[in-house]
Amino acid sequence: MKAFVYRGPGLKGVEDRPKPKIQASGDAIVKMVKTTICGTDLHILKGDVATCAPGRILGHEGVGIIDSVGAGVTSFHPGDRVLISCISSCGKCEYCRRGMYSHCTTGGWILGNEIDGTQAEYVRTPHADTSLYPIPEGADEEALVMLSDILPTGFECGVLNGKVAPGSTVAIVGSGPIGLAALLTAQFYSPAEIIMIDLDDSRLGIARQFGATHTVNSADGKAAEAVKALTGGRGVDAAIEAVGVPATFLLCQDLVAPGGVIANVGVHGQKVDLHLETLWSQNITITTRLVDTVTTPMLLKTVQSKKIDPTRLITHRFKLDQILEAYDTFARAADTQALKVIIAA
Ligand SMILES: NC(=O)c1ccc[n+]([C@@H]2O[C@H](COP(=O)([O-])OP(=O)(O)OC[C@H]3O[C@@H](n4cnc5c(N)ncnc54)[C@H](O)[C@@H]3O)[C@@H](O)[C@H]2O)c1
Ligand SMILES: [Zn+2]
Ligand SMILES: [Zn+2]
Repeated sequence: MKAFVYRGPGLKGVEDRPKPKIQASGDAIVKMVKTTICGTDLHILKGDVATCAPGRILGHEGVGIIDSVGAGVTSFHPGDRVLISCISSCGKCEYCRRGMYSHCTTGGWILGNEIDGTQAEYVRTPHADTSLYPIPEGADEEALVMLSDILPTGFECGVLNGKVAPGSTVAIVGSGPIGLAALLTAQFYSPAEIIMIDLDDSRLGIARQFGATHTVNSADGKAAEAVKALTGGRGVDAAIEAVGVPATFLLCQDLVAPGGVIANVGVHGQKVDLHLETLWSQNITITTRLVDTVTTPMLLKTVQSKKIDPTRLITHRFKLDQILEAYDTFARAADTQALKVIIAA
């Protein structure tokens, strides 16, 4: 089968690989129908993710059809259409029992990282009963691809951890797919203001279409002043970091109001200063989180009932044999205006 393979920092390619086989009784083999590329895949290609070894098939998102299941799988059968969660969870270990699937002792974020992923014709998914979701009849499968990772990430790590509430003020730093997913799902709670911050005016334009009340281009280094001016000098109740570089976590420290929350979402590769000399007295909370995907069933219902429409995040479509072109388009988002690219197997 065709597969997209990480070959070491800066190196990638399409390879012919054997079709995966069942290795444990809880496994399923899924024939991929649609997958996509995540910002995190670009981090891997740069060599930022130490757990991902050269030779790995990438991809942790997508929908497909069950091809075969191990003897222990009871909820799925060959032919079933399924949504694949980016997080594999056994449902039984101490962390899973606490709803912290991201830290499952035999799962977590392993797909397209520690085991081969979804950017291929077939993928082996461990703990299938508790890591796959049945696709409802008539569902828009491209919309569901957005539920593998980006919607639960924006919602759990950003909106829930940020305690977004009716009438509250929110700033989301980073208007990429994850920041926009936080923007879409923050609106479940009717905050008074959602201020989107980015360096890219075209992404800020999309943020306004998606419901941002204000947008700020932070290129001039004056974003904190702009946000203070919009919030009566107080700053925001929730400052959501959705980029993953020191400058944006520092900006969140300047944006947060007394009593507020800094909810970090970004994957950070470098250390960042924490200004306790000014924050110690501000009653703030700082949260970090690897997405657990515990909200996937709830988010699926909001997509099915059209409360949110994640297909608005899809900008490009490719076939699996065009995946190198898809990566190039996604990596040059500022020029191509790419957000999420759908890859059909
Ligand atoms: N915590 C988790 O579980 C989890 C899960 C998935 C992704 N992530 C991470 O979330 C982050 C966002 O993902 P994405 O796919 O939206 O990434 P992305 O790269 O597409 O978007 C980031 C956005 O930040 C903007 N940006 C860059 N530098 C900036 C700066 N200095 N000031 C303001 N804006 C700036 C870019 O213009 C871009 O629009 C990444 O770090 C990704 O790895 C975390
Ligand atoms: Zn991802
Ligand atoms: Zn577990």
